[in-house]
Amino acid sequence: MTTQAHLAAPRRNKGVNWEKWGWIYMRISGVVLVVLIFGHLFVNLMLGEGIHALDFAFVAGKYATPFWQWWDVLMLWLALIHGANGMRTVVNDYVGHTGVRKALLVVLGLAAALLILLGTLVVFTFDPCNGVFQDGAMWATCHPGK
Ligand code: HEM
Repeated sequence: MTTQAHLAAPRRNKGVNWEKWGWIYMRISGVVLVVLIFGHLFVNLMLGEGIHALDFAFVAGKYATPFWQWWDVLMLWLALIHGANGMRTVVNDYVGHTGVRKALLVVLGLAAALLILLGTLVVFTFDPCNGVFQDGAMWATCHPGK
């Protein structure tokens, strides 16, 4: 007696396999985030005077340096895309109603895009002298000779 298996040929979808690239992105961004997050915590909380040195001037000093601007922006982009993509997986796994699922995914995408845009603008346009008036403590530093 012969048994014949009538299995359908595996489907090969044309085009980019976004789920595969999402899966790979989660692993690679996870590894890079470990370095960025622990580097960030070490420099801010442990180096020199550590947490006691954290104030407005400390942050202003960091944002005057392209190295730290790019460090923070990379951390922001990788973590937000990683977090949003992870939440997309959770929503797809647990939300059964198609309409609700789609609405949540749109809100998730918009929230991530907005936060990425705002965060990037803050890092690259940060100016410690913005909003410093003549009666403020920073006036002399920001406007020497005036
Ligand atoms: C410290 C570095 C991090 C590492 C090594 C890491 C690693 C990972 C990996 C490998 C996955 C995929 C798990 C799976 O597919 O089963 C994942 C999922 C996820 N990650 Fe991260 N991650 C990190 C930081 C973050 C951060 C900062 C956020 C939030 C902004 C975040 C939010 C999520 C979410 C929401 C998921 C989906 C959870 C799920 O599928 O159950 N992760 N993470």
